[in-house]
Amino acid sequence: MFHLGWFMGFQMQSWNSTWAGNDGATNWMKPELFVDAAKSMERGGLDCIVMEDALFVQDVYKGSQEFTLTNGFMSPKHDPMPYVPVIAEHTRHIGLVPTVTTSFYPPFLAARLLSTLDHVTDGRVGANLVMSHNDRTAQNFGLDAQREHDHRYEMGDEWVDLVKRLWASWEADALVLDESRHVYADHTKVHPINFEGEFYRSRGPLNTAPSPQGYPVLCQAGGSARGRDFAARNVDLLLSNVQGVEAMKEYRDDVRRRMVSFGRNPDDVKIVFLVSPVIGETDDDAQVKWERMKAAKEANLEANLAFLSYYSGVDYGTFDLDAPVPSFFTNASRSTIDHNRDKSAGMTLREFASEPVRSTVELVGSPDSIASQMGDVMEEVGGDGFLISLPVTRRNVAEVTDGLAPALRKKGLMRDGYSHSLFRDTLLEF
Ligand SMILES: Cc1cc2nc3c(=O)[nH]c(=O)nc-3n(C[C@H](O)[C@H](O)[C@H](O)COP(=O)(O)O)c2cc1C
Repeated sequence: MFHLGWFMGFQMQSWNSTWAGNDGATNWMKPELFVDAAKSMERGGLDCIVMEDALFVQDVYKGSQEFTLTNGFMSPKHDPMPYVPVIAEHTRHIGLVPTVTTSFYPPFLAARLLSTLDHVTDGRVGANLVMSHNDRTAQNFGLDAQREHDHRYEMGDEWVDLVKRLWASWEADALVLDESRHVYADHTKVHPINFEGEFYRSRGPLNTAPSPQGYPVLCQAGGSARGRDFAARNVDLLLSNVQGVEAMKEYRDDVRRRMVSFGRNPDDVKIVFLVSPVIGETDDDAQVKWERMKAAKEANLEANLAFLSYYSGVDYGTFDLDAPVPSFFTNASRSTIDHNRDKSAGMTLREFASEPVRSTVELVGSPDSIASQMGDVMEEVGGDGFLISLPVTRRNVAEVTDGLAPALRKKGLMRDGYSHSLFRDTLLEF
């Protein structure tokens, strides 16, 4: 049995194309599309929704924001936080994991917001911790450029130490609620933390009540050596986009080893791998769909070059399309460059970027075939599941939640209902 989540961005999902729905241009600005999706995902038995976020308008590609805004590509984008309570109101079990940047969110405010959301969701909140890789983000917060890559992780470690101390500043039984003695909270069980770090200081205590999970499920997607250390030290849920079964296994084994060196039990973290399944009625149907996606070379090329520029902070519009895919050192999303090098061996940039965006493994087929493929991959890798990355159209959601999920369940690969109310317990159930 393995875990299944969905990676969701609060941006335009599909517009000006078939299956975009009635109002694909603007429906993402309201919660209904995501509420419908979340209800389906819960019906399908998914563990969680990871809510992507970024804080900049991409203008690296061709030195302009033209591609980004002409195509509604990753911008405009909404803050996922306000969608959390709305989705929670319409669901009961699924975990909700909004993205939080440790580089720019003041720790006290983040601790307070996440504690509040843990109450509002009855213990179903998580936090996808990112360090914000882009210079434009840094400039939106008053810096000239983003801080050095590993330094961001140093700061992130201390940020996590601080928010955890704030969450622990109330002892679990500090709320007394004794009417006969008229004691609401025991003041001796709520402590200042007087945190004095290298980058942050905070007195504490937090002024929220202790939340159902104690602290949210912490999640992260770093792929570099320093990113993996951050994950091994701090988080409960890891997202990965390494390429191929061998790399997935290496990644999982490596992070689990690092956890041991930090004195943690490797089974306390779950690692899910990004996939974009191409689902058809039959294997042949899915193959036709996949061939059609591959044939859209021109559109794929522009989108991929913009996407690579987005993550690397380097303009892929300046590279020779008929030379090998460039490999370089970046201060932005570092492992993205390594993944592309691995994925593109022997290919020119044009060949590589003309293909549909690749995720960890290629999954093409009927729900039944894909369920078997996923089972085989997990068998080899050892665990712990997959994170679906597809635009949130009602068609894509139905294909996964009412097609793939039941096929997985029939094979005993996926949960059949939820046994726990807290997200952390759901995640650690198997
Ligand atoms: C599945 C997945 C989801 C991610 N989600 C976000 C996100 O929402 N916001 C963001 O700024 N970065 C996101 N990232 C980027 C990571 O936080 C990180 O910057 C990237 O994996 C590179 O890490 P590295 O520099 O340690 O190699 C995501 C990466 C992956 C693989």
